[in-house]
Amino acid sequence: MCGIVGYIGHRKAYPIVINGLKRLEYRGYDSAGVAIANGSMNVIKKQGKVIELENEAKNHNTHGTICIGHTRWATHGEPSDRNSHPHASNSGKIVLIHNGIIENYDTIKAELIGRGYVFHSDTDTEVLVNLIEDIKIKNDISIGRAVQLALTQIIGAYAIAVYDTDRKEELVVAKLGSPLAIGIGENFSEYFIGSDASPFIEYTKNAIYLEDGEMAVIKPNEEIKVRKIQDGTITESYIQELELNLEQIEKGGYDHFMIKEIHEQPEAVADTLRGKVNLKDSKISISGIRDNIERFKNANRIIIVGCGTSWHAGLVAEYLFEDLARIPVEVEYGSEFRYRNPIITEKDIVIAISQSGETADTLAAIKMAKEKGAFVYGVCNVVGSTIARETDAGTYTHAGPEIGVASTKAFTTQITVLAMMAIKLGQENGALSKSRVKELLKDLQEIPKKIEETLKSEEAIKEIAKVYKDSPNFLYLGRGYNFPSALEGALKLKEISYIHAEGYPAAEMKHGPIALIDEKMPVVVIATKKGYYEKILSNVQELKARKGKIIAVVNKGDTAIRAIADHCIEMPQVAEELSTIISTIPLQLLSYHIAIMRGCNVDQPRNLAKSVTVE
Ligand code: G6P
Repeated sequence: MCGIVGYIGHRKAYPIVINGLKRLEYRGYDSAGVAIANGSMNVIKKQGKVIELENEAKNHNTHGTICIGHTRWATHGEPSDRNSHPHASNSGKIVLIHNGIIENYDTIKAELIGRGYVFHSDTDTEVLVNLIEDIKIKNDISIGRAVQLALTQIIGAYAIAVYDTDRKEELVVAKLGSPLAIGIGENFSEYFIGSDASPFIEYTKNAIYLEDGEMAVIKPNEEIKVRKIQDGTITESYIQELELNLEQIEKGGYDHFMIKEIHEQPEAVADTLRGKVNLKDSKISISGIRDNIERFKNANRIIIVGCGTSWHAGLVAEYLFEDLARIPVEVEYGSEFRYRNPIITEKDIVIAISQSGETADTLAAIKMAKEKGAFVYGVCNVVGSTIARETDAGTYTHAGPEIGVASTKAFTTQITVLAMMAIKLGQENGALSKSRVKELLKDLQEIPKKIEETLKSEEAIKEIAKVYKDSPNFLYLGRGYNFPSALEGALKLKEISYIHAEGYPAAEMKHGPIALIDEKMPVVVIATKKGYYEKILSNVQELKARKGKIIAVVNKGDTAIRAIADHCIEMPQVAEELSTIISTIPLQLLSYHIAIMRGCNVDQPRNLAKSVTVE
């Protein structure tokens, strides 16, 4: 997730773009850059936050009435000056900013290298700008047409803005999968672009949101025409009147980052899967595994380390790797592992899971594992983070920046990566049949849709939150793959509402927690059809017999649990191995709404930090 901004018109463009970039920093802040047209192109870019770029720009000429800018959340290539956008074509005539991921960039890059193109960054974006140049020169066509033709060769997601010094008065924009808003000045005299409308809200209230597969060549004093990329036909574009204020726009219309991030999960998981799952050939391509396949095949065991929510993702991975790939797994808290003199051999693989990639205990654990000769693999969200750099190989989750302190989309995307890894390893070592792989991959592809379906329970969950918001304690129960969901649900509630909550394996309840049950105790039970349903049903009956209040997460169409539970939250059926991803969603929503009703600061809960870089 990156932020893009642009301006073309009669005003000084740079201040508009730099302010717009500051407003889009929530989308990523690994680096920032601008290209200002004033005769030629003046490109200024800098690793770090927009303020670093602004300081650097003080030494440059920033005059000009056309400017495009970008704030980066690294996906391909570590955060650095050279990987920052805008990227220029080999001739230096075309510059481009991009938000998204180009999946087939390596094949195109190889072809372009074959034709003599030289690359100065590790990004997928630089491949696109050179592809556009190549097509433009080969066919002797306008930049608009060259962008259109180039995009028909692209697989992936993009929101782009392109400027060509051969066409001094126009900007080309296009969108597929990533957002792009176009602000329209009075009488079409000027245009603004942004990943959302926040960069231009004080200049105009009129905007067009491009739909997927659409593009436009924007010229000041000319009415905008939106076209289909596929065939160039003009589409009916609808100019919207913006009613949101600035803060609402940055949070995508949501009140808090946490709820925005909860709702981003269908897209985030789709981004995690992007380019990795090929249903037709039943293939999973994870380069970190492909390049180290012999190590994985010969591993004695996998040791997973993490903290907080990432540790919970590790527990899910234990079930996944043992179940699907038949590899023995141990899951460790980073802080315990590093101090307890564990036995580690060169045939062990240590997987570190971390959203931030900076958690001190996880980092220390992998350093120790490396010293003892283990192969260390990272599953991180933040590209170029310390853990991503310290590990021998790894896979990024591509969830986009997570700003709310309580982790939501990072968790579901971590499990998505770990599930892909387990299926891949099960396929490689023969533990999974061809037909099972096929089924699992199909189920994986359907996860974003199923998350969307689950999010529709929000109103019902709000009603439940109203009833229990003042309870001093909560118990969360689950079995199998849904035991880690119970732990994660309890952690979410503790973190943001300050209600004491415990997660337990449902069957263990009778060895202690059952003593706590009375008519005041809400018990959240994950009771999905495929996960030991009959056993859970008995557990619910035991709780009911002690007058506990049951909030059950059930599959659509459930009748048996519904007959005894006080409240039911529905989720769609999903393969048991992937059910944690779905069953976590209602629990995130429940904790969010309870916390809001209690007046808590959900994005910055007391005493907590997003990234814990101390022991
Ligand atoms: C902090 C955060 C948690 C997170 C944990 C591990 O405690 O508040 O949300 O799960 O650190 O962070 P990591 O970045 O390593 O996943």
